[in-house]
Amino acid sequence: MPDSSVSSAAVAAIEVVHLSKRVADAAAAATAVSKAGELAILRDVNFNVRAGTTLAIVGASGSGKSTLLGLLAGLDTPSEGTVRIDGVDIFALDEDGRAALRKHKLGFVFQSFQLLGHLNAVENVMLPLELRGDADARGKAERMLARVGLSSRLKHYPKYLSGGEQQRVALARAFVTEPPLLLADEPTGSLDAATGEAVIQLMFELNKERGSTLVLVTHDPSIAARCAETVTIAAGRLV
Ligand SMILES: Nc1ncnc2c1ncn2[C@@H]1O[C@H](COP(=O)(O)OP(=O)(O)OP(=O)(O)O)[C@@H](O)[C@H]1O
Ligand SMILES: [Mg+2]
Repeated sequence: MPDSSVSSAAVAAIEVVHLSKRVADAAAAATAVSKAGELAILRDVNFNVRAGTTLAIVGASGSGKSTLLGLLAGLDTPSEGTVRIDGVDIFALDEDGRAALRKHKLGFVFQSFQLLGHLNAVENVMLPLELRGDADARGKAERMLARVGLSSRLKHYPKYLSGGEQQRVALARAFVTEPPLLLADEPTGSLDAATGEAVIQLMFELNKERGSTLVLVTHDPSIAARCAETVTIAAGRLV
């Protein structure tokens, strides 16, 4: 990876181009600014994320942050516009192409964690490594869980983990493959101040150590202030 990270130093890791997202919503028919019967969640959003930077996405609840993050990861499809990751238009790829891109480039932390209920903590973290055929999946997963303070919860299933513990497993799962691009939705939303600080430090450490790009959604102004850049969205638009 040193080659690509060197050559991409001046290049945007992510380009968001005229991105709009609308969903069908009968209740919005009379009032929506966009087309009748549709709710506009994102409206013509444009910005670039430099490779290696840290970017905070902030905005009120319901402003469209999670929708935007899901689109950046190609987990959802836009109504208009596109997202380029390292120059590749991810919506010109088919579903398999996007899945391959996620597997190799992306770590994603969902606001709702999305752990697999039939796998225990260490198995959840091993999964992305196993998908890559990593021979040391268990060792790496255990070490990453240790870094988020969960060495004593390796065999716990998600339903027996607290919200903050589930969040840390989700973080470990996103970090463990050392992705060049890490997207995290409210990564400290369920954590107490001390654990949240440890997780934030870990994310910034990984960003520094590996030159990875970090995009996080946060409501915490002190976390946003520690990022090199911030974008604010209000009612689906960048402000
Ligand atoms: N599939 C959908 N169908 C209808 N409305 C949706 C859909 N997805 C999102 N929305 C609406 O779009 C708006 C933006 O949602 P989103 O989850 O992106 O907000 P958010 O900024 O992440 O909020 P929070 O800070 O509370 O997590 C919300 O009002 C939500 O109800
Ligand atoms: Mg959200």
